[in-house]
Amino acid sequence: MTDRELRVSKIENGTVIDHIPGGQALNVLAILGIDGTSGEVVSIGMNVPSDRLGRKDVVKVEDRELSQSELDVLSLIAPAATINIIRGYEVAEKHLVERPTEVSGILQCSNHNCISVDDEPITPRFEVLDDGVRCVYCDTIIRDDLPAHILV
Ligand code: CTP
Ligand code: ZN
Repeated sequence: MTDRELRVSKIENGTVIDHIPGGQALNVLAILGIDGTSGEVVSIGMNVPSDRLGRKDVVKVEDRELSQSELDVLSLIAPAATINIIRGYEVAEKHLVERPTEVSGILQCSNHNCISVDDEPITPRFEVLDDGVRCVYCDTIIRDDLPAHILV
């Protein structure tokens, strides 16, 4: 084990999201709805040296697994992310994220007149494009700054 791997300590149970592009860790936390106020135990490595990515971020969330909606949106900002499920200090499962054809929840449409914004019972849904996402209700396309559209 190298010094680099020791930068953030190992966890007993939970999820390690590895190979996040450098600088995206706080956006990953936003996707997971984590702001620290609910008492989650979270460790973050930012701009850690990485052979594959040059610099990467790592997020470790204890006692929590991720939902499919969270993984779907995560794949848009961290396409090379590895999801490690940790049980009893061991890596029990390792998954690559997959780019979905559609994402639901988590992102909000930027059109204030969109029915998914006006009407709370309607879950926002977007078709995933090569260079952004398109609202299935009003066709508004969000290309830039996806993290700014994360529902809080
Ligand atoms: N990890 C952790 N706590 C554990 C076990 C692993 O925080 N109890 C973290 C490691 O620090 C690493 C990630 O989970 O960031 C994946 O662990 P592992 O598969 O052992 O590392 P690598 O082989 O380097 O992973 P990869 O091949 O995906 O780069
Ligand atoms: Zn819309």
